[in-house]
Amino acid sequence: MSTLIKNGIVITENEVKTADVLIEGEKISTVGKSITAPNAKEIDASGLYVFPGGIDVHTHLDLDVGSTVSSDDFYTGQAAAAFGGTTTHIDFPTPRKGETLRAAFEEWLSKAAGKAVIDYGFHMSVVEVNNKILREIEELPDWGITSIKVYMAYKNILQLTDEEIYRVMQTAARKNITVMVHAENGDVIDFNVRNLIAEGKTEPKYHAISRPPLLEAEAVNRAIYIANAAGANVYIVHVTAEMSLNQITESRKRGLKVFAETCPQYLFLDDSYLELQNFEGAKYICSPPLRKPEDNEALWNGLKKGDLQIVSTDHCPFNFKGQKELGKEAFNKIPNGLPGIEDRVPLLYSEGIVKGRLTLNQFVRITSTNPAKLFGLYPQKGTLKTGSNADLFILDPNAERTITSQNHHMNVDYNPYEGFKIKGKIKKVFRRGELIVDGEEFLAEKGSGRYLHRKHLKWED
Ligand code: URP
Ligand code: ZN
Ligand code: ZN
Repeated sequence: MSTLIKNGIVITENEVKTADVLIEGEKISTVGKSITAPNAKEIDASGLYVFPGGIDVHTHLDLDVGSTVSSDDFYTGQAAAAFGGTTTHIDFPTPRKGETLRAAFEEWLSKAAGKAVIDYGFHMSVVEVNNKILREIEELPDWGITSIKVYMAYKNILQLTDEEIYRVMQTAARKNITVMVHAENGDVIDFNVRNLIAEGKTEPKYHAISRPPLLEAEAVNRAIYIANAAGANVYIVHVTAEMSLNQITESRKRGLKVFAETCPQYLFLDDSYLELQNFEGAKYICSPPLRKPEDNEALWNGLKKGDLQIVSTDHCPFNFKGQKELGKEAFNKIPNGLPGIEDRVPLLYSEGIVKGRLTLNQFVRITSTNPAKLFGLYPQKGTLKTGSNADLFILDPNAERTITSQNHHMNVDYNPYEGFKIKGKIKKVFRRGELIVDGEEFLAEKGSGRYLHRKHLKWED
């Protein structure tokens, strides 16, 4: 089956050109001028943009957080991702204490089996450390997993000590496994949470007060230094604050190695949302928390300058009714996380490119190419070259729409970006050469998404 996309404006990490794209089977066959392919199905893309499919490297589908389970499973979450131009994501198998990494890996494969509609890989969460777990970390590349996540926060649940993190990083370094770090000082936060609750300060806004930017910046710095001491590649997830970004920028200037991401919620929202009446602030509870408008601006600058390489979503949705409401009595019982898998690419297009904050090439790098390079998927994914997977979306730059939970595809009863008017509308999405989104129609068969055996980080900038 061949498809010929004619006369689109084709954008990759380093090019913008009017060209035709010939897809043969699952791959891009040619990108060039005046291609003819008599047997191919032709699509006229005049005046439309053709972008590489988005890659979201930070999602939590079907995640059991103890009190409840994130509301998107591998079908609803991936279908929503596809409507938003994302054709690949990487999720986090998260073992329970006492469970092997292998068991978590297999559990996640079975969560996706029969449901997946886009391609997906895994990072492994490491939530406890012993010799058995360290041996299993060494096996991860054989399973196609070349990155792990450790937590410096969520005390008594996911948090590791510095010694444990150092041992994990040393092991990871031997196998060229990238270590992703949730960087917040969990000990101090835990103390703050207990004190605030004891003082009767239980509303959502106190979640942010318990975990200020200083406690993120301190942990970011510690993570970078411990990783460099251990010789590991380190990637700081969900950077929220100017102070944390400054630690990253300064470290990079000093020659320390560190990569980092931010997420849409830290670019487009701020802590004023936590003060919404009728407990609606709970909709915006995530960790680290939303910060100030000045932090939003600083993060845009970090993206522009390349100190932040990726925007992922940390998609971890919970319904307001029945899930976020679990924390009505106290903010520390509100499940942490926001939806975003469907809106990341459209929001970044509209707020990034249309508002002049990013160039077209920067947009592609941040949403697709850098994720592919840092997480071992390039050039199979993250670009539009001959031989790459034909993962792409076609966007009408002149169309406009308003984001609303009334018509989004995520399985969650609110949208944090409700009412945002955005420019640009995704018309068609291809995953490995197959048209899976055509306007409002969803065409992918359940189970047609594929598990990705990832290679190691390869960064050549
Ligand atoms: O609030 C968040 N971010 N929930 C998801 C888990 C994590 O820390 O990434
Ligand atoms: Zn995290
Ligand atoms: Zn996360």
